[in-house]
Amino acid sequence: MSSDGFLHRYFLNNGHKRLHKWVHYFDIYEKHFERFRNRPVTMLEIGVFGGGSLAMWREYLGPQARIIGLDINPACKAHEAEGIEIHIGSQDDPAVLDRILAENPTIDIVLDDGSHMMRHLAATFQHLYPRMSPHGVYMLEDLHTCYWDEFEGGLKRPGSFMELAKELMDSLNAAHTRGALPISDFTASTFSMSVYDSIIAFERRPQGARLAPVTQPMPRKDPAKGG
Ligand SMILES: C[S@@+](CC[C@H](N)C(=O)[O-])C[C@H]1O[C@@H](n2cnc3c(N)ncnc32)[C@H](O)[C@@H]1O
Repeated sequence: MSSDGFLHRYFLNNGHKRLHKWVHYFDIYEKHFERFRNRPVTMLEIGVFGGGSLAMWREYLGPQARIIGLDINPACKAHEAEGIEIHIGSQDDPAVLDRILAENPTIDIVLDDGSHMMRHLAATFQHLYPRMSPHGVYMLEDLHTCYWDEFEGGLKRPGSFMELAKELMDSLNAAHTRGALPISDFTASTFSMSVYDSIIAFERRPQGARLAPVTQPMPRKDPAKGG
């Protein structure tokens, strides 16, 4: 892990805006977001609340980064600042997501920390994932809600994002299913899925045909036989 601990230090020393994160998230963020630092990237965080995380992302990703927040609560608009823009609306509303995409055609990072309702997680993922940067990362946090019925979750409950993720794991491996699963847009655009306690991160990267060449030592002539 290439983490330099920036985010954890920032969190502990935060005297700016309210910030509430599980401590084990910081290493995961740094593992997946490090490559975007100090570059002209666009990050969308769903769920603004006190605005503390948007300010943290701006510090972490650097002055060239564009940070966009989406929240259903109009009061969150107050957290707009230089390099931080807030949209108001529901994360499952395709018109809201399309408006953000129209203004920001290349979204490199999506972090879903919004309602945590299962239907919303799936709707947002299905709309944004194929439309974001082909080399981007889509991360969902607080997925312990997948096991809680007040969020439409439950162990192995159909419709929970964990169950969708299990199907996506098969889809990622569709090329090996001997035709049982089609090569989907997800198969062709996903490099990896990383599953952690309460977090799943999808790394996008265009995928080619699978290759499995054999390598072996060069055949050598026996010096005793000359040559
Ligand atoms: C957990 S808080 C976000 C915390 C923030 N990301 C942080 O780390 O400080 C969840 C936020 O999601 C917002 N929210 C709830 N339902 C939503 C929806 N349907 N669409 C967008 N945002 C929603 C809430 O208003 C709340 O501000």
